[in-house]
Amino acid sequence: MTYEYIIAEAKGRVGLITLNRPKALNALCDPLVDELGDALTEFEADENIGCIVITGSDKAFAAGADISMMKDFSYMDAYKGDYITRNWEKVKTCRKPVIAAVAGYALGGGCELAMSCDFIIAADSAQFGQPEVKLGILPGAGGTQRLPRAVGKAKAMDLCLSARMMDATEAERAGLVSRIVPADKLLEEALGAAEKIASYSLPVVMMIKENVNRAFESSLNEGLLFERRQFHAAFALEDQKEGMAAFVEKRKPAFKHR
Ligand code: HXC
Repeated sequence: MTYEYIIAEAKGRVGLITLNRPKALNALCDPLVDELGDALTEFEADENIGCIVITGSDKAFAAGADISMMKDFSYMDAYKGDYITRNWEKVKTCRKPVIAAVAGYALGGGCELAMSCDFIIAADSAQFGQPEVKLGILPGAGGTQRLPRAVGKAKAMDLCLSARMMDATEAERAGLVSRIVPADKLLEEALGAAEKIASYSLPVVMMIKENVNRAFESSLNEGLLFERRQFHAAFALEDQKEGMAAFVEKRKPAFKHR
């Protein structure tokens, strides 16, 4: 499918979505977020895709929600229009893994979009921040909720209240990003990680995503119970038989349900 604000393409078994509004540093407007939701829905339904990567440009993953579009909003515009958040949850509800590959600025809604993904691979040029306070607003797509879960209260408060930016090294140390790679290797590394994930059994990959997310929505005991039930269920999969047989026979597994 052709889009105006993003580029969506299959790279082997990986669905690559590139935010493509370079003149505004990928500022997030409704049509862009709607297209992102549509591309995710399409890749989720595509049997040939096992993992999805969202990336931006060298300069910006996304510099936040589009300020020029929001500046004259009334309360009713914001409330009724559900500005840029109306299709937001698709990143989270997509059952296939979604990796954010971040170079340059990931600010405001850009940082929130990256945090909505399953994990973040950062270029050494990445800068994360929630600068909304400078605009007279607060984060509106998870900044005050996902950031403390990722980096703890002290750093989340610091970032949201001071509007300062956090570089890749600090973000990795704080647990916001899973790995840092040289900027010129970002896409290669992210696609490599995604291709690896896409080579595993898809139902198992989806269960792992569901289980890790459950850790943030339930008590430890409930989460452990949920995991145990799904662990038992995994023994009903043909791919479990194949994976374990391959180990015992010292060969590579040929998973059927990718
Ligand atoms: C609209 C934006 C934009 C944004 C950048 N641009 N960020 N347009 N919305 N969020 C535009 C600029 O106006 C400019 O357009 C062009 O992109 C290049 O930006 P510059 O500022 O000239 O670049 P630079 O000097 O390198 O500074 C980069 C920057 C700065 C530090 C990232 O652009 C910046 O501070 N942007 C705003 C960041 C921010 O406050 N984000 C939070 C938004 S609120 P022209 O036409 O002049 O060339 C938010 C709430 C989410 O995200 C709520 C979700 C519901």
